[in-house]
Amino acid sequence: MKVGVFDSGVGGLTVLRAIRKELNRVDLIYLGDTARVPYGNKSPKKVIAYSLECAEFLLSKGVDILVVACNTASSYAVEILKDRFHVPVIGVVEPGVEEALKVSSGKVGVIGTTATIRSGSYQKLLERNGIEVLARDCPLFVPLVEEGLIKGSIASAVVEHYLSDLKGKIDTLILGCTHYPLLKEEIRNFLGDVNIVDSSEAVARKVKKIVKNEGQGKTDLFFTDRSQNLEKIVKLILNEDIPLKVLRELEVELP
Ligand code: DGL
Repeated sequence: MKVGVFDSGVGGLTVLRAIRKELNRVDLIYLGDTARVPYGNKSPKKVIAYSLECAEFLLSKGVDILVVACNTASSYAVEILKDRFHVPVIGVVEPGVEEALKVSSGKVGVIGTTATIRSGSYQKLLERNGIEVLARDCPLFVPLVEEGLIKGSIASAVVEHYLSDLKGKIDTLILGCTHYPLLKEEIRNFLGDVNIVDSSEAVARKVKKIVKNEGQGKTDLFFTDRSQNLEKIVKLILNEDIPLKVLRELEVELP
């Protein structure tokens, strides 16, 4: 089976990595839209348009299922993709919320890009289930991770800056952005004893439920631009767990 995963850039590789951990034989095709990242500060209209293009690319490669690894794209485009295409479409918001509901005793924090938090996607689903929600956008987290600053004094200062208002007020925190799992250690150090829900793991478990673990275990990585630090960050995320077999540049016309 072929699983297509897309994200605005490299961060979605955290989702790819989690899927590979659950399903060692499926073929994975990843598209990172590095030419147009970040989505997190774009308008809903642009996020939807870009998501449709990413999905079309993956479908042209014959994927059996689409995983929208990007929280921002999941917040705005999943329903549209489900209507438009005839393969299962899995976003990251629902699995993350389901996971939080399993472990929370009623007070959940959600962090994500400005667009994700503005969409209210996580908040609506959680509140519908009687959860009290504290939501916060953390716009510096993405550049921090992309600079490889995932530990140390700068990372901990930025974590403190954004999460101070949540400290002591929540029992569970949803990492509602592809990049945030890489800051998990600093987040845990700062928040102490809270459940941390990593949407990428929740998504992987959901994919596992609907996909047969069959295929050649290939991983193909596509990016829309060979942006600065691309190889470095791909390596930082995938480590040696998933071999990097193809890294090809695509030309996507900017509208
Ligand atoms: N992939 C995005 C997300 O999960 C983060 C990076 C961006 O802003 O595009 O929301």
